Amino acid sequence: MRVLGINAVFHDPAAAIVVDGNVVAAAEEERFSRRKHGKPCVPFSTWELPEASARWALRFANVAPDAIDAVAYSYDPDLAPADGAQLHDNEYEALRTYFVRRAPGFLATLLPGLDRARVRFVPHHVAHAASAYLAGPYRDCAVLVMDGRGESTSALAGVVRNGELEILRRVPLPHSLGLRYEELTMHVGFARSSDEYKVMALASYGTPRWRDAMRDAMHHDGDGGFVALPIDFTQFVAPRADGEPFADAHADLAASVQDALQETMLGIARWLHAQTGMDALVMAGGVALNVVANSYVARHGPFAHVWVQPAAGDAGTALGAAMYVARAMGDDVRPMPTAALGREWSDADLRGALDDANVFYTRPRDIGEAVADVIARDGIVAWFQGRSEYGPRALGHRSLLANPRHADTLRRLNDVKGREQFRPVAPMTLLEKAPELFEGPFPSPYMLFVHTVKPAWADRLRAVVHVDGTARVQTVDRASEPLVASMLESVERATGVPVVVNTSLNTAGRPMVDSPRDALECFGSAPVDALAIGPYLLKRESFARGSAGVHAA
Ligand SMILES: [Fe+2]
Repeated sequence: MRVLGINAVFHDPAAAIVVDGNVVAAAEEERFSRRKHGKPCVPFSTWELPEASARWALRFANVAPDAIDAVAYSYDPDLAPADGAQLHDNEYEALRTYFVRRAPGFLATLLPGLDRARVRFVPHHVAHAASAYLAGPYRDCAVLVMDGRGESTSALAGVVRNGELEILRRVPLPHSLGLRYEELTMHVGFARSSDEYKVMALASYGTPRWRDAMRDAMHHDGDGGFVALPIDFTQFVAPRADGEPFADAHADLAASVQDALQETMLGIARWLHAQTGMDALVMAGGVALNVVANSYVARHGPFAHVWVQPAAGDAGTALGAAMYVARAMGDDVRPMPTAALGREWSDADLRGALDDANVFYTRPRDIGEAVADVIARDGIVAWFQGRSEYGPRALGHRSLLANPRHADTLRRLNDVKGREQFRPVAPMTLLEKAPELFEGPFPSPYMLFVHTVKPAWADRLRAVVHVDGTARVQTVDRASEPLVASMLESVERATGVPVVVNTSLNTAGRPMVDSPRDALECFGSAPVDALAIGPYLLKRESFARGSAGVHAA
């Protein structure tokens, strides 16, 4: 079966394609349109479809629109709130449903040859769930989905046996962990549905002094669901306007909500374990991008294994919906092998792009070693290799790399990215080295957990140790990521430390770099010292002369 998955309803539009049970391609529309998060999360944008990513996925999989067996759309209008229902303080709800019902026609217009009768609607949270239990490594597991909202609910808890989902609990709106976190995000002066991870970082600077009040407002209900009604945050601290400085109280508020969120998730995890007796828990939905809460559940919860879909936000529902429908149509659906499911370019294409741009570049004998040399001299490297990542994290395909030993590296990276200085960057290390340096759940290939940095290493990893002594580690498996692994080994030879800083390759407010042109634009406009694009290397002049570097190797 050839199944195209589409996420379009709220935000982070994306497309994915599953052929004969194999995940072939998945990508977010923002990487093509260069518009962060693809579109605003408003009902009148629901008609907008991930057209560029869908066309690319079909081309990549060599499937013509008239050969598609099904299109899986990750929202079911039959489950949507009734017209006039005030579930979300949103008078345009009916418009969203109207556009969703017409999506088959829109899709047939965009993809000439597609039979609109092949479009199937998949309940939003079932699509999230499938992105965890079908894409993840466990065929028997408990599953937990939490986000802002789906059709009329905001969470799903269930059990999966032999790949078959049984839903144990749904949580109806207006209760929502995701929406409460989004409201907190706005209250402390950030963009909702976008900057929630900044709030999580801010929380680590605060003291949860309103913990009790927040736990009253947001808690596990004892039956697999939760209470999470709107909270008047102004009773704790006035909202922060954009550009105003942070008060301690903003961090304290964030810490208090974070505390209540983690306790709620832990309560549900314990309930799920007691109900199902499963060893493994898989999670998806935007709330599962809260790596601090994920780690809390992994550390204090009853499950031996916790796996989180790397595209846990709505983009991941394109993949989940496609896998769900492929399985329903009889395919033996296999787990996603990697998050590197996006676009790639051949060496010849890359060379053509560099020649067109008329830039000076070399082809070192070993690109990993050449990059290690720049990193050892404290240079910042834009690393563009292989297929781009699906989901919000750079995992060694579209990354900025740097030496972790100086705290100043964090300031320089945040400068390149034009972002707040309290934002941490993350370390990447080989899987077999990780337990020497960090404590926490391993493997961690998708950066969805935080780890404690072992004291013996903290001094050598100053750029990646967050204020609370943690780091969000990516472990690299040399079998699946041979190039990244060899680069890490070269870095260890050059610096004595088996770690590089890894953060996403993008500049302020822009989506991650996806194409060679994006990479060249980023290199041309940001203070990055080198660009390693496929086997080719471009260096900023000072590095090319060998005169740069605070600490020459
Ligand atoms: Fe969602």
